[in-house]
Amino acid sequence: MTKKLLTVKVNGRTIEKAVEPRILLIHFLREDCQLTGAHIGCDTSHCGACTVDLDGRSVKSCTHLAVQCEGSDVLTVEGLAKGPVLHAVQEGFYREHGLQCGFCTPGMLMRAYRFLQENPDPTETEVRVGMSGNLCRCTGYQNIVKAVLHAAAKLQQTAREAA
Ligand code: FES
Ligand code: FES
Repeated sequence: MTKKLLTVKVNGRTIEKAVEPRILLIHFLREDCQLTGAHIGCDTSHCGACTVDLDGRSVKSCTHLAVQCEGSDVLTVEGLAKGPVLHAVQEGFYREHGLQCGFCTPGMLMRAYRFLQENPDPTETEVRVGMSGNLCRCTGYQNIVKAVLHAAAKLQQTAREAA
């Protein structure tokens, strides 16, 4: 099939690449960009292991074509930390033991990153609903909820200090 030239910004870096129109964003990220943090856990758009941030929204990258992202800004788990400094959501998952095998974690982190911008001071129930597009086989979710609440508190503290 004829390839189309795709220009997209991924983690702040502009990438230009010819891709087949049928290529999914998750495969573009993993195979063309070597960003293998986002995972594939299903073929029915349920698990959210492939979640990335696309133009300020959480999207399941297995359900987007790469060519649909022409001119877009994509953030993946590899772009969350600033040098050696973890983002608050990463620190939260680490501190609260919000991961075991780690397969769901990149998707969880990217969803938590966006969720806490949508709702900076969530209740436990709001966290559970807000993260409900992401499945985990290991943790039973309890520590993931704690991790997101930990990150919310840290981000609020940082905002207070900056004010
Ligand atoms: S791989 Fe399961 S929702 Fe994308
Ligand atoms: S930590 Fe294993 S699937 Fe979530």
